[in-house]
Amino acid sequence: MDLATPTARTRATTPRLGVNIDHVATVRNARGGAAPDPVRAAHLAVAAGADGITAHLREDRRHIRDGDIARLKQELMVPLNFEAGATREMVDIALKVQPHAVCLVPERREERTTEGGLDIIGRRDELKPMIGELSAAGIRVSLFVEADPAVMRMAAELGAPVVELHTGAYCDRHDGRAVEAARAELRRIEMAAALGRDLGLEIHAGHGLNFESVVPVARIPEIVEFNIGHFLVGEAIFTGLEAAVARMRAVILAARAEQGAPGAG
Ligand code: PXP
Repeated sequence: MDLATPTARTRATTPRLGVNIDHVATVRNARGGAAPDPVRAAHLAVAAGADGITAHLREDRRHIRDGDIARLKQELMVPLNFEAGATREMVDIALKVQPHAVCLVPERREERTTEGGLDIIGRRDELKPMIGELSAAGIRVSLFVEADPAVMRMAAELGAPVVELHTGAYCDRHDGRAVEAARAELRRIEMAAALGRDLGLEIHAGHGLNFESVVPVARIPEIVEFNIGHFLVGEAIFTGLEAAVARMRAVILAARAEQGAPGAG
């Protein structure tokens, strides 16, 4: 097979889209009832081409609840990526639910969303047994981390098969006014992705991505999965969830195909 042709290169690196449905639950919880149902949203996202569903069970259950995770696991035909703080409580829930993957994230009660990556260097002794326990149960562990070379090396040392690179700092600067700063953040992501893959890690990315900011990130060939939530749920208000998911998937695939085209650098 000629790996230089765009189709072969594209096929070899077709990225997956995981849709995070947390904020459907945020809207539901605003009124305390059962609607809108995040599991229904998950089914719609899958119908529109999502390759997986991500849900974050926070310690304070501010959006996704335990019952949502149980229903997602029971009903979904695509992989469930269970996002959780690196705590004993969440590891026990993961071991019970048996999702396809667990993405360990930092979590602070007072934060509005996941701010920054997990401190896997400072928390290495605590994380190593958790990663071992989850892996032994057949759950794929992903660490949500900053795009940093020392962090990539530590992830490999800890035996995690996957890292998800935090794209929040890049997205915050991707507003047309901070071009140089966004470029520097993007470069950091590119370098971490290349190093991570050389170390044998599978590379995912997520946080704050929209139709525009996802394009340069989707051109990074090492990244095989994107997890996107807030923007898609917001966009669903205007265009419907299926249209938003289908468009995001098309944007990601087009950017990757462009990256694989002859002469693209
Ligand atoms: N990946 C991880 C690990 C996250 O914590 C989040 C936010 O919950 C996302 C991806 C999705 O980020 P956003 O909702 O900003 O698209």
